[in-house]
Amino acid sequence: MAANLRNQNQLLSKMAIGDGHGENSPYFDGWKAYDEYPYHPIDRPDGVIQMGLAENQLCFDLIQDWLMKNPKASICTPDGVLNFKDTAIFQDYHGLPKFREAIAKFMGKVRGDRVKFDPDRIVMSGGATGAQETIAFCLADPGDAFLVPTPFYPGFDRDLTWRTGVQLVPVACASSNNFKITKSALEAAYGKAQELNIRVKGLLITNPSNPLGTILDRETLKGIVRFINEKNIHLVCDEIYAATVFTNQHNFVSVSEVIEEDTECNRNLIHIVYSLSKDMGLPGFRVGIVHSYNDAVVNCARRMPSIGLVSSQTQHLISAMLSDDEFVDRFIAKSKERLATRDKVFTETLYRVGIDCLNGDAGLFKWMDWRRLLKDQSFEAEMELWRVIINEIKLNVSPGSFFHCSEPGWFRVCIANMDDSTMEVALSRIADFMRQNKDQRIRRSRCLQGNRANKAAFKLSLSRGKVEDFMSQINMSPHTPIPQSPLVRTRT
Ligand SMILES: Cc1ncc(COP(=O)(O)O)c(C=O)c1O
Repeated sequence: MAANLRNQNQLLSKMAIGDGHGENSPYFDGWKAYDEYPYHPIDRPDGVIQMGLAENQLCFDLIQDWLMKNPKASICTPDGVLNFKDTAIFQDYHGLPKFREAIAKFMGKVRGDRVKFDPDRIVMSGGATGAQETIAFCLADPGDAFLVPTPFYPGFDRDLTWRTGVQLVPVACASSNNFKITKSALEAAYGKAQELNIRVKGLLITNPSNPLGTILDRETLKGIVRFINEKNIHLVCDEIYAATVFTNQHNFVSVSEVIEEDTECNRNLIHIVYSLSKDMGLPGFRVGIVHSYNDAVVNCARRMPSIGLVSSQTQHLISAMLSDDEFVDRFIAKSKERLATRDKVFTETLYRVGIDCLNGDAGLFKWMDWRRLLKDQSFEAEMELWRVIINEIKLNVSPGSFFHCSEPGWFRVCIANMDDSTMEVALSRIADFMRQNKDQRIRRSRCLQGNRANKAAFKLSLSRGKVEDFMSQINMSPHTPIPQSPLVRTRT
């Protein structure tokens, strides 16, 4: 068998037999646990709840309703089948003009119509994943690097680097200032890459951030644009969560707005990556977009869809849907409203049981602070706690180390990929876990008092297995402030 595999491997490319895609990473352990025994309210009420998937499932009813009312948009209905032939025959791989126009308009709308996008600069790809790879292909040679502020979406490690040979250099951001991207952090990462003789070709930012759910303020964005201009490197802005901003406290500012104001900026360095996977909740449609301000990049990138493009059927449907202004306005407003409600229910419940989350304004997830639950401030302890969360609390969440977070103890938990009742179950499991933790601490402190009389009397009840074993090592109160706590309290 082993010899067979060796022979087989010799027949394949180095890239194919390498582990560049990283599918064997522990990141997938939580998914495996979920796949093996997924939660079901009746069949498997003790199953694993999937909270590791950044999907937006809160507005499917609106889309389904639109589809019912617009049967012509689909070639699979009696009303739409007349378009079948035109859609089935080969299409120009630059994309249907009506599709690029509808996407450009939608991108403007989700940015409050403060900026316009040019349909001729819209290049399609298989999701934002394909868009990222397209951009990396256009901008960098194998071995070149992109700086990426941490924590960042772990898919970049797999999808952006695998076939392009591009490297990612982390820009370490810290919780002490809510993971802000500072000039000094950018300079430090850039300097480090230079020391290592790595050619930096660009900076990749995600705004709003996955996993933080925060948005970049205008000043920070301006600083970033200045930085990349000084270094003469590219800026790739992944704005895939642009329409998930659910608070009115901070406005989402797109890099496209900043460069409108900044006349000094070299626009050839600016590229936006977008998709409908998050804002519309359509990851299965694989609608990804590159919108570059650089003509050469647009010209190169638009040759790529000849390899993997968005199907004409999807383009046809999406262009009809996104051209319906009334629907789009209602969808964006409702989605924002429902995300805000989810966020409130989740963060407030967690806060009541002693868990804080970073204050975010956007996204389909929360960045939970479980540092006080670590037995020590190490990534080993974070992984240990993660396994407890998966195996005992039965929630698949993602530890911060997967996102290259520089500090252990943070976890991303997705909140928009389930219905209200599943969310309730997830929250009550977390609450139970915290209660057990509290009971355990009380028992432990009683034990310790008794211990003064008789040291031998100090025995922790380990009957509940790993959870309490683990939690018994924790002495802090749920709200004991951590020294120099960066913690931004959740809204109450
Ligand atoms: C920041 C970011 N970029 C890209 C992607 C990939 O998106 P798509 O499904 O459109 O390929 C994700 C998915 O989670 C993401 O969070």
